[in-house]
Amino acid sequence: MSAEVDQRGRAGATTEDIQAHYDVGKEFYRLWLDPGLTYSCALWDGITGAPARTDLLLEAQRAKLRYHLAQAGISADSRLLDIGCGWGSLLRMAAEETGVRQAVGLTLSADQHAHVCSLGLPGVDVRVQDWRDHEPDEPYDGIVSIGAFEHFTHVDMPRDERITAYRSFFARCAAWLPPRGRLSLQTIALAGDSVLDGPVPAFFAREVFPGSALPRLSEIATACEPHFAITALREDGADYARTLRGWSTRLLRAREQAESLVGPGTYRRYRTYLRASEIVFMRQVSTLYRITLRRWPCRSR
Ligand SMILES: C[S@@+](CC[C@H](N)C(=O)[O-])C[C@H]1O[C@@H](n2cnc3c(N)ncnc32)[C@H](O)[C@@H]1O
Repeated sequence: MSAEVDQRGRAGATTEDIQAHYDVGKEFYRLWLDPGLTYSCALWDGITGAPARTDLLLEAQRAKLRYHLAQAGISADSRLLDIGCGWGSLLRMAAEETGVRQAVGLTLSADQHAHVCSLGLPGVDVRVQDWRDHEPDEPYDGIVSIGAFEHFTHVDMPRDERITAYRSFFARCAAWLPPRGRLSLQTIALAGDSVLDGPVPAFFAREVFPGSALPRLSEIATACEPHFAITALREDGADYARTLRGWSTRLLRAREQAESLVGPGTYRRYRTYLRASEIVFMRQVSTLYRITLRRWPCRSR
């Protein structure tokens, strides 16, 4: 079903919505993402040069993953949860570089799940599971969630309902962490008091990310307040414009292969979406936040 509230009354993208976008197939995404298949804004601190260059895109993506692992307090021996693990680039870094004891990844995409399983990462357990259904056997030392938060509500929800939905996410994360445990969250958001209306958001909602919506910083702050302190905040919209430019250029260069894999219609839809998104970030209608949250010692404040 593509309804924005599913049969269990949940807001946001359904499994079918997610699979319609991500299960276009990793061979298509491989043409224009970095070799680690990270599908979210990279971190370009100190990296200069064309964002379409494979080595630079990979370096910026790895810098981002390393940043979030550090912000979540993950080290060797940690137990990590990655909510919205994509094709597993963070899990891979955690397993191979950090040497975590255990890592669990959640995704709603069957294609992503199959890919992460095929990597055979030591100590990594990946599931096709909504975070709302996750019941861990023991707490995690840290949680990372990159680029999934945008899928947790839909555009027609009033502000108070969105805050309630976000609050239930933060409540669950807090319950899975020890006191002072950290969540490192990355999400696109509406910038300032900007409003997304007109044909571009309608195209996104209809053809790119059905059942999804951008939060405002104030909604995130209100929703997390009973459960978490915000200890660091980065506003990195320019990094997303740059990442999107890289992806867009790479997809254009791979046009022939892309069209033969997914057809000209899907190719055109992705080209339009990547270009339009870059413009939205350049105009600062939307932006990108990387937020570090620390669980309050007492959950019921
Ligand atoms: C844009 S991708 C980001 C993937 C990855 N974090 C990265 O940076 O490459 C969003 C991810 O969130 C997942 N996701 C969306 N809604 C979810 C939910 N309710 N529960 C679990 N995963 C979800 C999708 O399946 C997908 O893996």
